[in-house]
Amino acid sequence: MVNVSRTPIIGGNWKMHHTRGLARELLFSLRAPLEDFHQIEIVIFPPAPWLGDAVDVFESSSILVGAQNVHSASEGAFTGEQSAAMLIGTANYVIVGHSERRLLFGETDRQINEKLHSVIDAGLEPILAVGESQDERASGETDNVLRRQLFAAFENIEMLPVGMVIAYEPVWAIGTGMSASPEIAQMAAVTVRALVAERFDELAADSLRIQYGGSVNTTNASAFASQTDIDGALIGGASLNSNDFSAICEIFARTQ
Ligand code: PGA
Repeated sequence: MVNVSRTPIIGGNWKMHHTRGLARELLFSLRAPLEDFHQIEIVIFPPAPWLGDAVDVFESSSILVGAQNVHSASEGAFTGEQSAAMLIGTANYVIVGHSERRLLFGETDRQINEKLHSVIDAGLEPILAVGESQDERASGETDNVLRRQLFAAFENIEMLPVGMVIAYEPVWAIGTGMSASPEIAQMAAVTVRALVAERFDELAADSLRIQYGGSVNTTNASAFASQTDIDGALIGGASLNSNDFSAICEIFARTQ
């Protein structure tokens, strides 16, 4: 076991919400309470059209900006898409493999692997999202699903960036108000860390930051924050409310 300290990371995934006016209001209302948080990393993932606004509003603060999606090619005739190279200078982080991309847009393990390559090659930080469905959990398949998703995503990747982020997000907990119990999240995080140790090495596993995602709110955040293998959260619904999101960031900063 290598002893490394892991800086907690909280992501706010706005998904496809907010027109520009509302988005700018939310960005400004996040900046004030969060601009001086240095104990944890805070990353806001606005819809793609507002990435530039986020960069402007957060300028010279510690708040980082991320993209919700990326195409794996570096450029080409792919209407409506953006490449990792185009995100350089705007986004620090990129979410890869979110279950909504997998389920609603048919993203395959192979595409997720290609996207992960492109993000790492561009020097951006990926947040790789994995997690089982309700049926898979009910039939005792969770560990196999995590193994399949992770090993497929890591195909032909020789080394993970140090401090790489994986979000464990059980599909049944996303946007449902039915979060996983902290114990379930902790057990899944242990499995994810063990799988990374098996595929790479102890250093990669110990420096790996694992977020829990799925109906995190101001009430349940501290129970997740106090789990040994959980190093942050990926937050959807509650990230659209600046008071709630700031409160969750404070909870993680206090509990680290
Ligand atoms: P939720 O979304 O917090 O609304 O459940 C989490 C996510 O999709 O990352």
